[in-house]
Amino acid sequence: MEVVIRPNAETATELVAQVISRELRDNPRLVMGLATGRTMEAVYARLVQMHRREGLDFSVCHTFNLDEYVGLAGSHRNSYRHYMNHNLFLNVNVDLRNTHLPDGAAADIEAECERYERLIAECGGVDLQLLGIGLAGHLGFNEPASSLRSRTRIKVLSPVTRAQNEPLFVPPHEMPRRAITMGVGTILDARRCLLLATGEDKAEIVARAIEGPVTSMISATALQFHPHCTAVLDEAAAGRLQEADYYRWIFENEPQWQSYRNGSNTPGLDGHPVKPRRRKKEIATVLGGA
Ligand code: GLP
Repeated sequence: MEVVIRPNAETATELVAQVISRELRDNPRLVMGLATGRTMEAVYARLVQMHRREGLDFSVCHTFNLDEYVGLAGSHRNSYRHYMNHNLFLNVNVDLRNTHLPDGAAADIEAECERYERLIAECGGVDLQLLGIGLAGHLGFNEPASSLRSRTRIKVLSPVTRAQNEPLFVPPHEMPRRAITMGVGTILDARRCLLLATGEDKAEIVARAIEGPVTSMISATALQFHPHCTAVLDEAAAGRLQEADYYRWIFENEPQWQSYRNGSNTPGLDGHPVKPRRRKKEIATVLGGA
């Protein structure tokens, strides 16, 4: 695994956005795996800015999100479809028909999971999978004891995940107990994985995920098997890593990071929330048919 440590959340976010934008410019038909959570909001805000200021083009890319809450339709304000629409999709020129999330409101969840796996395969697989990490060490919603070869399926959310995500629900007790999530095996099939973690509260789980033994109790440790995984951390999230100095040296000296070393001072997030501004009709169509 490549580990990159940046001084703060803003510079870590900037690096992730730069990696995504370069992959997208190199291959406009990129199939992107996307994640949700608070950490990703800043990444999406930066991608929206790149679209508006630099013309970053999403028109022929495809996206597959990691997960969705069971029981929530895409129109629900706490659904991940809603999160994605408002943080990214409605603010760039992606074709909404090319944006995919599992349908949490499907009548037959098992069939929906199979459909989702099929769809990813039909698109040629995920090229670049963006990942956050939950305090339980999960990728997507692959909670403790998730099989490291698992495919898209339903999972019951762990107490740690419920405690982490409940504050995002209004009212908190309405948070579903189950979710559909890509499996660990599904995630490992992506050609490249890009994990972003920021903040001191992630330091312990990040150290266990990157430097600890591989275990199904922390699904993020499975990334140690991936042939091309980059973990981007800020100093706070890297605080418990044994080999932090080694990782810092690699980023400062190795040629593959050269073009990113000076790029981290490009105008970053301006702190202003990005408002959805168009294509309301299109989204209604997608939500109706999802
Ligand atoms: C949710 C998502 C995960 C994500 C995690 C991190 O649980 N299912 O994919 O990694 O949130 O969230 P945050 O960035 O808010 O810490």
